[in-house]
Amino acid sequence: MDKIKEINQAIYRYYSQKPQVSEDLIASILYSVESGGKRIRPLLFLEMLEGFGMDLTEGHFDVAAALEMIHTGSLIHDDLPAMDDDDYRRGRLTNHKKFGEATAILAGDSLFLDPFGLVANAELADKIKVQLIAELSQASGTYGMVGGQMLDVEGEERQLELTELQAIHANKTGKLLTFPIVAAGIVANVSEVDLVRLHEAGALIGLAFQVRDDILDVTATFDEIGKTPKKDLLADKATYPSLLGLEQSYDVLNQSIDQALAIFQKLAETQAFHTEKITEMIERLRLNA
Ligand code: IPE
Ligand code: IPE
Ligand code: MG
Ligand code: MG
Ligand code: MG
Repeated sequence: MDKIKEINQAIYRYYSQKPQVSEDLIASILYSVESGGKRIRPLLFLEMLEGFGMDLTEGHFDVAAALEMIHTGSLIHDDLPAMDDDDYRRGRLTNHKKFGEATAILAGDSLFLDPFGLVANAELADKIKVQLIAELSQASGTYGMVGGQMLDVEGEERQLELTELQAIHANKTGKLLTFPIVAAGIVANVSEVDLVRLHEAGALIGLAFQVRDDILDVTATFDEIGKTPKKDLLADKATYPSLLGLEQSYDVLNQSIDQALAIFQKLAETQAFHTEKITEMIERLRLNA
């Protein structure tokens, strides 16, 4: 099964409802969705579900799509002139460069709000859906991604301590990467104790992911990341490399991955959880000096 294709189809299904209110809004939304992207968050969710031995259904792909929609919306807003002011994303012009700021803001708004209805209508048990919606709201909003982006904006004005940078990363990126790990546990009906462990593993993967993104800003080319390299460097932004240097940043990245994998190994000792595929996926996040 081509998981990325199924995720994309779930998003297209949502946006093919008739009658459309605004064709331009849909065009702007689909422009960013179609630009590609690694789809790491939804893929983590689906790999985790399979790790728990579940067969994937349309309902699962709807949840995966909802998560990718929120992430894509966060990128559109992150690139706006008032935020990071970026011209390129996923290898093409940013949404506001292509459609103008007003449309880009509204496309982001759509991509934040539509997912909740998508999950509410998914073919899954009501009790699970309520938990997923609560978790997704918490991960995305004031107590998650949006809150983290606010800290990130405020942090631009001054020199940050490592603990402050950790708080920014944990929220702006960590929460939306924790969601797929925890959401799979909710769908697989694991115990409260195991959900806490999944939260820990997700937070570590989230930290690893933003540290990796910070490293790539310094080391990668446009073709590798599809966005302007050295953007953080030139803006003198607080990042792991700027605070700790590249070498220690690689260490933080690789240690966070090790710790997350150790949690999955432990989980597999007490229940039917296959770690191979998820381990493979997370191993691919490593970067070496
Ligand atoms: C970029 O996320 C923004 C961060 C949170 C670091 P991704 O690296 O997952 O971006 P896409 O989805 O592949 O474009
Ligand atoms: C973005 O972090 C995090 C979110 C979009 C929530 P960055 O600003 O580092 O992401 P990129 O480097 O622009 O993808
Ligand atoms: Mg940013
Ligand atoms: Mg940015
Ligand atoms: Mg970045």
